[in-house]
Amino acid sequence: MSRASARACANLAFVKYWGKRDAALNLPTNSSISMTLDAAHTTTCVEIDPGLEKDEVWMSGEPAPGAFASRVIAHLERIRSLAGSATPARVHTSNNFPAGTGFASSASGFAALTCAASAALGLRLSRRDLSVLARKGSGSSCRSIHAGFVEWHAGQDDHSSFATQLADARHWNLVDLAVLVTEREKSVRSSDGHRLAANSPFWPSRTRSMASRLAEVRQALLKRDFHRFGREVETEALEMHAIMQTSAHEQRGAWQSGIFYMAADTLRLINAVQRWRQAGMEVYFTLDAGPTVHLLCLEDQSGDVLDAVQSLEGSQDWRTIACRPGPGAKLLSEIDAT
Ligand code: PMV
Repeated sequence: MSRASARACANLAFVKYWGKRDAALNLPTNSSISMTLDAAHTTTCVEIDPGLEKDEVWMSGEPAPGAFASRVIAHLERIRSLAGSATPARVHTSNNFPAGTGFASSASGFAALTCAASAALGLRLSRRDLSVLARKGSGSSCRSIHAGFVEWHAGQDDHSSFATQLADARHWNLVDLAVLVTEREKSVRSSDGHRLAANSPFWPSRTRSMASRLAEVRQALLKRDFHRFGREVETEALEMHAIMQTSAHEQRGAWQSGIFYMAADTLRLINAVQRWRQAGMEVYFTLDAGPTVHLLCLEDQSGDVLDAVQSLEGSQDWRTIACRPGPGAKLLSEIDAT
């Protein structure tokens, strides 16, 4: 039996991946830019065990739900075929944050699985190969392979679509105060949302403006220009939600005008951010495919922003997780050795 364990952090996109050019390979329509989040991680152990009759997937000590287990097994299959192995595996995985709330658990999950399974199967892969492989499990997980600030290059094909590090975790003292306003699971999975994005009448204009958006955010990030960065990142999040909210489709036989990932408290918090800025606080927000509001500020403002969140009515029911630029995916043996 061989065994390896790995830990990978979630990541938060500043320029979003929304829409795929190739759904089977998870090739994105556009490149994206993110920060790896130190406080939200998945730990995964893979045991290659000839004594097993079939693969087993465990989540926080319980048998994993069927749909999730099937995705994990499909990814194991990819890694086993690279290693020329057919031996079944037992996978234990756990998150230190709730899944399905706009906090990307598939990103940390598939990055950790890719590292642990490839090590357990004796593959020695470069960061680039790990990123290509993780991408096929879940697109955004290719960014979680790297520490700090990361760009996923859309590429042309399987081999050219992977993430690289833009700047390491010490580059900028940016804080993401993730405010989980509800822990209810979202109703439309992101894989469906990606597929429906091109239904929006605003899709062509988004794809046309993507190159300049990426250049702006990359430059502001590298220059640590928070003013410019915050404006661009907030605009980007709302633009992605405008696409989502106008992606008309059918659901259970009924026409739907679009997908709404925001909750009432998401909007309340967005309004509060606008008020706080008028009062001189330098804080911006971004959102993913869920109701969680990610408040972005610099370290010296994070105490004031947290106080402001806690002063809002109903905030005692929310959970706030403070994330800073975090490490890339690592085997636990590498973590123990440091
Ligand atoms: O990797 P997926 O299929 O879960 O898509 C993630 C999409 C967003 O989180 C909304 C944006 C992003 O770039 O992470």
